Amino acid sequence: MSNKNTNLHRAKRCKDDEFYTTYETVLDELSYYKEQFKDKIVLCNCDDPFKSNFCKYFLDNFNMLGLKRLICTSYTPWEPVQTDETGKLTISFQPNFGKILDITEVNEDFDLNSSVKELKGNGDFRSKECVEYLKICDIVVTNPPFSLFKKLFMLIMQYKKQFLIIGNQNALTYKEIFPLVQNNQVWTGYQFGEMKFRVPAYSEPRSTRYWVDETGQKWRSLGNAMWLTNLDNERRHETLKLIQKFNPEIHPKYDNYDAIHVRNITEIPFDYKGIMGVPITIINRYNSEQFEIVGEANHGSDSEFDIFKPTINGKETFKRILIRNRYAS
Ligand SMILES: C[S@@+](CC[C@H](N)C(=O)[O-])C[C@H]1O[C@@H](n2cnc3c(N)ncnc32)[C@H](O)[C@@H]1O
Repeated sequence: MSNKNTNLHRAKRCKDDEFYTTYETVLDELSYYKEQFKDKIVLCNCDDPFKSNFCKYFLDNFNMLGLKRLICTSYTPWEPVQTDETGKLTISFQPNFGKILDITEVNEDFDLNSSVKELKGNGDFRSKECVEYLKICDIVVTNPPFSLFKKLFMLIMQYKKQFLIIGNQNALTYKEIFPLVQNNQVWTGYQFGEMKFRVPAYSEPRSTRYWVDETGQKWRSLGNAMWLTNLDNERRHETLKLIQKFNPEIHPKYDNYDAIHVRNITEIPFDYKGIMGVPITIINRYNSEQFEIVGEANHGSDSEFDIFKPTINGKETFKRILIRNRYAS
């Protein structure tokens, strides 16, 4: 296949799949959960051992964290090969093999090059071979392709594993994830919002949230990234300080539902007992002792949790999370 074709194919596949997490992003978040990794088997199942900063972080800190085992697997998709024999165009697939790093100790003799092996298959985290690693692990830590976020989440849930994964905040209102957030089974981590990622050289330039640094490395940023987890953290037990008193001028009622509209979380009234529509960022400040998540208000039809389409005086508002303040008196 010509280089041009390969690049085109890669660029298409890349879309949102090839966002590489920085070491700082991993380090900053992981520093809150150190004790929870002791004697644990960690699986990074969308992670090239040579490229991933998840892998690098766990190798650097294997002994400090007291890990039992680290498994990192990476995906190498089968490449389409175009042949043009005797005028007949044929497309076949060139088998490729994923990589695996599977270690139980890191000492001064550790050598990454000789420790990385080939998988039997392509390293798709859904493949039988990779699911076997998922079954034996304790905690999955990775940044998966956003297009497969839900699939990975469902798989982790199916095998009842702990996890700390990066995704897009939109995933919080997926019908498979929202009820778990609501029932306090999963929650967000510390970094919520801005996150920057290295992207491959073949990524197309963009007008916003894209730049090239002085080394020629291309970057993209997201304004609505998040860590999703079921590892306990202090953040979810903190009480959100509320200083605003209920005021119908500031907190209008929706046209079509008995709830008030709250523009941003600093304006949540401390003295309102009913349902309030607040920005999605509440999920990152949500303490289930302080608040109850009642549902969401988006189109009124996305899922059983999407209760109504929020409008005020006929004007539509942004998607809202519906909460009730348990402490309001
Ligand atoms: C968003 S990138 C992040 C890579 C790495 N986890 C990091 O944070 O730097 C997602 C990675 O998953 C890989 N990937 C794509 N499809 C996959 C699949 N089905 N199974 C496993 N990995 C996959 C992509 O090639 C890409 O390297």
